[in-house]
Amino acid sequence: MKFFLDTANLEEIKEASSLGVLRGVTTNPSLVSKEKVALEEQVEKICALVQDYPVSVEVLSTSAREMVAEARRLAGIASNIVIKIPICIEGLKAVYALTNGENKVPCNVTLVFSFNQALLAAIAGAAYVSPFLGRIDDIGGDGVGLVEDIVAIFEKQKMDKTEVIAASIRHPRHVHQVAAAGAHIATVPFSVLKQMAGHPLTDLGIEKFEADWARALEAMNSLPGTEPG
Ligand code: E4P
Repeated sequence: MKFFLDTANLEEIKEASSLGVLRGVTTNPSLVSKEKVALEEQVEKICALVQDYPVSVEVLSTSAREMVAEARRLAGIASNIVIKIPICIEGLKAVYALTNGENKVPCNVTLVFSFNQALLAAIAGAAYVSPFLGRIDDIGGDGVGLVEDIVAIFEKQKMDKTEVIAASIRHPRHVHQVAAAGAHIATVPFSVLKQMAGHPLTDLGIEKFEADWARALEAMNSLPGTEPG
């Protein structure tokens, strides 16, 4: 499974990149708005930071014609741009137009909350579908179950041109569950990535090793005839 970072924050992207686990970035209008800079400017900087990996950027238009025009404009920013299109009738038309014919633009179909939405998006030509499991859990549904379904049925139907991005991840347990479900990608907030690397017993273990070592040095240094080190 690959990890994408779900953020538009440059510092988070730089730090996550330095960990060696980052394979892409997903943004959305809410995440970009937090950065308080022009969208195009921020997207250009993000794309430069992760040149070898896809960066998803979402359109805000609502008609297929406008979505396609906006997508083509955004895709011109960098060669690693993937266009995020919300699943809906106009969105499907836009995905079909962008992924067929000349000058293809890869699409990540977003705001997916049902298997059928994922199915239509994949058939229309989406390179990625993004089920939002956290938002489903938030209203008492089974977000992981949706990811499991999409992965299993795509596999059964041999639909291998579309990768499943488990999105709206809330905590490390979600990551474990979507990995077990076979999701191709998990897009995670930086806070979740950091939580994944930690464990209270690891912290205690490090503290104990440091304390034991400090005690041993002190004992060695206090032996008669030993120069203080
Ligand atoms: C995915 O691409 C979305 O940006 C994201 O995962 C949405 O998550 P949220 O429910 O935390 O806003």
